[in-house]
Amino acid sequence: MQAFGYRQPLPITHPDSIIAFQAPTPVPGPHDLLVRVAAVSVNPVDVKQRANAAPPTDQPRILGFDASGIVEATGPEVTLFRPGDAVFYAGSIARPGSNAELQVVDERIVGPKPASLSHAEAAAMPLTAITAWELLFDRLGVARDRSATGTLLVVGGAGGVGSILIQIARQLTGLTIVATASRPETQAWCRELGAHHVVDHRGGLEDAVKAANVGPIELVAGLTATDQHWPAICALVAPQGKVGLIDDPKAIDPTLLKRKSASLHWEFMFARSLWGTADMIEQHRLLTEVARLTDQGTLRTTLTEPIGVLGVETLKRAHALVESGTMRGKAVLTVG
Ligand SMILES: NC(=O)c1ccc[n+]([C@@H]2O[C@H](COP(=O)([O-])OP(=O)(O)OC[C@H]3O[C@@H](n4cnc5c(N)ncnc54)[C@H](OP(=O)(O)O)[C@@H]3O)[C@@H](O)[C@H]2O)c1
Repeated sequence: MQAFGYRQPLPITHPDSIIAFQAPTPVPGPHDLLVRVAAVSVNPVDVKQRANAAPPTDQPRILGFDASGIVEATGPEVTLFRPGDAVFYAGSIARPGSNAELQVVDERIVGPKPASLSHAEAAAMPLTAITAWELLFDRLGVARDRSATGTLLVVGGAGGVGSILIQIARQLTGLTIVATASRPETQAWCRELGAHHVVDHRGGLEDAVKAANVGPIELVAGLTATDQHWPAICALVAPQGKVGLIDDPKAIDPTLLKRKSASLHWEFMFARSLWGTADMIEQHRLLTEVARLTDQGTLRTTLTEPIGVLGVETLKRAHALVESGTMRGKAVLTVG
């Protein structure tokens, strides 16, 4: 089958940073679906893997996580899906990626594709929706109903994760949402998705949030540039508040939270599949709920950049865009 990936970590401007190659057709294991991929989205993790992580073998590694497609075959122990079902999923960091004609994925981390969305619109969502959902409900412990009140600061509100976190928090909780964005188009996007307040992180996060006069910040979702914003986050979070992080800070001092008895929570959306946790099927359940909420019009796709058909040049363009750190919503490619 046709696949896209890399042989060695290279800057995106290098001619061989992304290559096309033929890979063996994958064979589903007991709990696996074999999926014919129809659309994929590109996340920062795709870019980090391509730029920094040498493939584990001497074969090229297939890139990609988010996908939407059709189940072609199932492993012998599969119970949740049948051939012909439309599905969406973010896959596993330990297995070959979605930037290919076919992919195998464990059914327990797959959801039914929202029927109201195209494959491209659906492919924009799974990785970021899983991250936002787990961060808000599983890590920060927010109740999934209107009784959840207080204020949530979302640092990096217009990016892939922020674009769905704002919607989930606004639609499924009673939280007041303060999102950060630095450009008119990203600020407008955060408001459109449901942020009550939008502040500019560029001129100093602490001053910007204080100037907005939003009261105590019980919860912080630090989605990006945590190294830069950590002192401000620790200054802003309320006593006994909670901070959730998802990016890769190099040097943050957790003791800055001590005098407030504030807590730090990590979200890594690949943790359940990487470690094969007993509750791995929660990702199937949450994607099923995200699909239901999308079909009833509560959540909307975060697709903003339809890049075209998956190929070396289009994939490079999507990687360059995500790598620029200026994404509003998500970049998606169709397959075939
Ligand atoms: N742990 C996990 O499970 C997990 C899951 C998903 C993502 N991640 C990681 O989380 C991070 C964010 O992912 P994403 O998909 O949301 O990224 P993204 O889509 O690339 O984020 C782009 C956004 O970041 C904002 N931004 C850029 N520089 C900023 C700064 N200095 N301060 C505040 N905001 C800034 C930009 O807003 P403006 O243009 O308005 O400035 C832009 O809208 C990445 O590092 C990613 O690898 C982790």
